[in-house]
Amino acid sequence: MQAVLLAVTFFRDVLPILQNHCQECHRPGQIAPMSLATYEETRPWAKAIREQVRSHKMPPWPADPCCGHFSNDRSLSAAEIETLANWADNGSAKGDSQDAPPKKIWPEGWNLPSHDLELAMPRPFEIPASGELEYQYFPIPTGFKEDRWVQAVEVRPGNRTVVHHIVVYIREPGSTWTGGPTKADILTVYAPGSTPDSWPDGMAKLVQAGSDLVFEIHYTPTGKPASDQTAIALKFAKKPPEKRVLALQLNNDHFRIPAGERDYRVTAWGSIPNDALLLSFFPHMHLRGKSFLFALNDGNNGSQTLLNVPNYSFFWQLSYRLKTPIPLKKGMRLQCWGTFDNSANNPLNPDPSVDVTYGQQSSKEMMIGFFDVAVDANIGKPEFFVR
Ligand code: HEC
Repeated sequence: MQAVLLAVTFFRDVLPILQNHCQECHRPGQIAPMSLATYEETRPWAKAIREQVRSHKMPPWPADPCCGHFSNDRSLSAAEIETLANWADNGSAKGDSQDAPPKKIWPEGWNLPSHDLELAMPRPFEIPASGELEYQYFPIPTGFKEDRWVQAVEVRPGNRTVVHHIVVYIREPGSTWTGGPTKADILTVYAPGSTPDSWPDGMAKLVQAGSDLVFEIHYTPTGKPASDQTAIALKFAKKPPEKRVLALQLNNDHFRIPAGERDYRVTAWGSIPNDALLLSFFPHMHLRGKSFLFALNDGNNGSQTLLNVPNYSFFWQLSYRLKTPIPLKKGMRLQCWGTFDNSANNPLNPDPSVDVTYGQQSSKEMMIGFFDVAVDANIGKPEFFVR
């Protein structure tokens, strides 16, 4: 019997994929260059879409499927890739609008489906046309009269063209810290392509009464003056959680990557001070970053790879949230490896003729494996590190 070939149509077959995997970025006001919300908007891109999804460039998800399952994995199944390719190859039919899934309603400007509170920088910050800017620190008082548990958070740059990345710290009452390296807990990190943070039910980040949020923002001038007023949205837990989420990091700041080196490896590791549940990863390197890997050594079975990012991209710095949290036992070793390409082969390399060391600016390098863990709700960062 001959199979009846039903032509792939936009409304029935394509739109559901776009809603679930693309519109997060491909809609007005977000980071992608064009909207893929309607047939008229999508039709001219049919062939480009086929190329991008077949080559796995879109949607951006650089993790190797070898290792780990992630709840925010936005990659397409083989069948979804086939559907989009078929649509491009067979006339890109519109189909019947009756077949369309319900229109996806996006909250204005935000990607979190809902939030309880918005806070913003009190006034815009002016970025000059050129030069290198030091990291800027903007304290934002929360005005919280009682402790609040944050279930989800999204930080939104006011001006994406100049905001390179943002780290939001929680400055607890009594702290006099105003900037620079700190042990303060991190609420969230923004880098291009990152998605809002949200933690599983029963787990949340604590912002104590009277805390400030401090935005650490790295601005990169673009050739013309600009201004930015970054904002944050918070969703609170409905009830006090059983677990508190802490943001930790493995950091190496004493490497030297020789000029011209194509595959230079830098590692960082730490032994876990107390039992905890491992929730997510966020690799961070700069323009010479090439690959990144997290591994766990439990002392018995050798080393197990938890996350492998074989083609690290400075432009897609994502957090990878484990579908099933991994129990870490006191004394286990968590390790990360980054490789760097400091040769002229790397088109992003700002200068292949110099050795590169640690530094905040993009002309220097960083090697940080951020990760979130969950611990008992009454344990803070200082207590967690008591061995
Ligand atoms: C996390 C954000 C994000 C998601 C999700 C995403 N895109 Fe993109 N897309 C971008 C950005 C930013 C660009 C432009 C820069 C680039 O090409 O890397 C882009 C570029 C493209 C281009 C190339 C445009 C050109 O100028 O040639 C196509 C085609 C595309 N995306 C299709 C898709 C499709 C189809 C999906 C879903 C299956 C998707 N994208 C998901 C952010 C995203």
